[in-house]
Amino acid sequence: MSLRIGDTAPNFEIETTKGKIDFHEFIGNSWVFFFSHPADFTPVCTTEMGRTAQLAQEFEKRNTKPLGLSTDTVDEHNKWILDVNETQKTTLEFPIVADDKHVIAQKYAMIHPGESETAAVRSVFIIDPNKKIRLTMTYPMSVGRNFDEILRVIDALQTSDKHGVATPADWQVGKKVIIPPSVTNEEAKEKFPQGFDEVKPYLRYTDVK
Ligand code: BEZ
Repeated sequence: MSLRIGDTAPNFEIETTKGKIDFHEFIGNSWVFFFSHPADFTPVCTTEMGRTAQLAQEFEKRNTKPLGLSTDTVDEHNKWILDVNETQKTTLEFPIVADDKHVIAQKYAMIHPGESETAAVRSVFIIDPNKKIRLTMTYPMSVGRNFDEILRVIDALQTSDKHGVATPADWQVGKKVIIPPSVTNEEAKEKFPQGFDEVKPYLRYTDVK
C-alpha cells in the first residue's frame, strides 16, 4: 500500500554516496526532501540532480536535507555525479541512496509497474523532524520536477506549522494566509492581533511574518 500523508516515514539503513545511513538518524531535527529517480546517466535525472545541488543554500535556509535515490550502485552514482557537476555547473554534495536491490523503492512504492517494472518513478516525500510524511508528489519518468514548487510547499508547510494557518492557491511567502475554519472569530482575534479580513465566515485572510 502507498504511504500516505501523516504516516511515519519507514526507517531503513542503506549505503549512500556519503556512507551508510539510518534514515531516522539522518532526518534528526531537520526536514527532508526525499526524491527518487529512474536511473543514473539519464538526461532528465541529470538536470534534477543538478538543480537540487544548485539549490543547496535554499534547502539549508529551510532546515531541509535533500536525499536522492536511484536504483543503481554507489560506484555508478559517484561516476554519474561527475557528469552532473560538469553538465549542470554545480557541486553535488547531498547523499544519493544506492538502491540497486530496490528495497527502499518497494518500501516507498516508488516503482509503478505500469510505467516500469524495474526503475523508480519520480516520487517526492517531504518529511518533517517528527519523521512524519507531510507531502507526497509523483511525477512520471518523462517529466522533470518543478523545484520552485518543492521549495514553495516546504515554505507553506513550515508557515502552517508556525502560525496554525493554511495557505491559499498559488501562495508564496509574504502573501496572505488563511485562518482555518476550526478557529472561531473570537479565537482568531486573540491569535491574530494584526487583524483579519472575513470575506465569508469560512474564508478569512490574515498576514503573518
Ligand atoms: C531521464 O531521466 O531522462 C529518463 C529516465 C527514464 C525514462 C525517461 C527519461
